[in-house]
Amino acid sequence: MLIAQLSDPHVRPDGVLYQDVACSNAQFAAAIAELHALDPRPDLVLLSGDLVDEGTPLEYAKLRALLRGLEIPSLVIPGNHDDRDAFRSAFRDHDYLPDTGPMHYSVGTHGPVRIVALDVTLPGLHHGAVDEAGAHWLDATLAQEPARPTIVTMHQPPFETGVPYLDLYACRGGQRLAAVVSRHRQVERIVCGHVHRFMLLRFGGTLLCTAPSTTTAIALQLRPEAKPASHLEPPAFLLHHWRPSVGLITHFLPIGTFPGPYPFA
Ligand SMILES: [Fe+2]
Repeated sequence: MLIAQLSDPHVRPDGVLYQDVACSNAQFAAAIAELHALDPRPDLVLLSGDLVDEGTPLEYAKLRALLRGLEIPSLVIPGNHDDRDAFRSAFRDHDYLPDTGPMHYSVGTHGPVRIVALDVTLPGLHHGAVDEAGAHWLDATLAQEPARPTIVTMHQPPFETGVPYLDLYACRGGQRLAAVVSRHRQVERIVCGHVHRFMLLRFGGTLLCTAPSTTTAIALQLRPEAKPASHLEPPAFLLHHWRPSVGLITHFLPIGTFPGPYPFA
């Protein structure tokens, strides 16, 4: 089973650049084209939040127009730039999304890997939190299928990255989350968005990784006084490949056209 993770596309109204520098809509369309060019194609696309930039109905209309070009089933989770109500009404045909409250869900109908989404966003705020109710929901949901390989997805990552301007807006309650996940050995990976960079670490007895954005990359600066910045690095996405005899392999793929292929021996 192949699961492509596209994150943080920050779709904008037509003709408006993301952060005045990037045509995030064209970049998202390019990411979708990249998925279609994969052979074999992914079985599922996971969109891990910040699907639009300001949460307006106009942006969601543009997002849906772009997603009409996607020929692969998709699952969506909201990020801090999404508006919960507008998001819900934009994706009212996505039956797995709950009608009220946090958008936690589990979906296991696209292949052997089950996707469990924990909504850690807090309406109106940029940081996230794993609250007691969310942790309880996750614990009970994971307990339903203890033998099923599982990806847990959430928008804001629940750890300190060491990048000061990212850590202001992390997901709080990481210890609570780690305690739950460590009880469920079938969790192959926790996958997040939000930080517009790839990161990988051990967390709660499993592996946690963050996805790059399909638009700008947030600058990697580790000095405590570093000021927020971003770069037009090559956009990228993750491809999670479940191989039953091996496990879950996560690939990092830059989006674009690059020289090659060259002979390799
Ligand atoms: Fe983002």
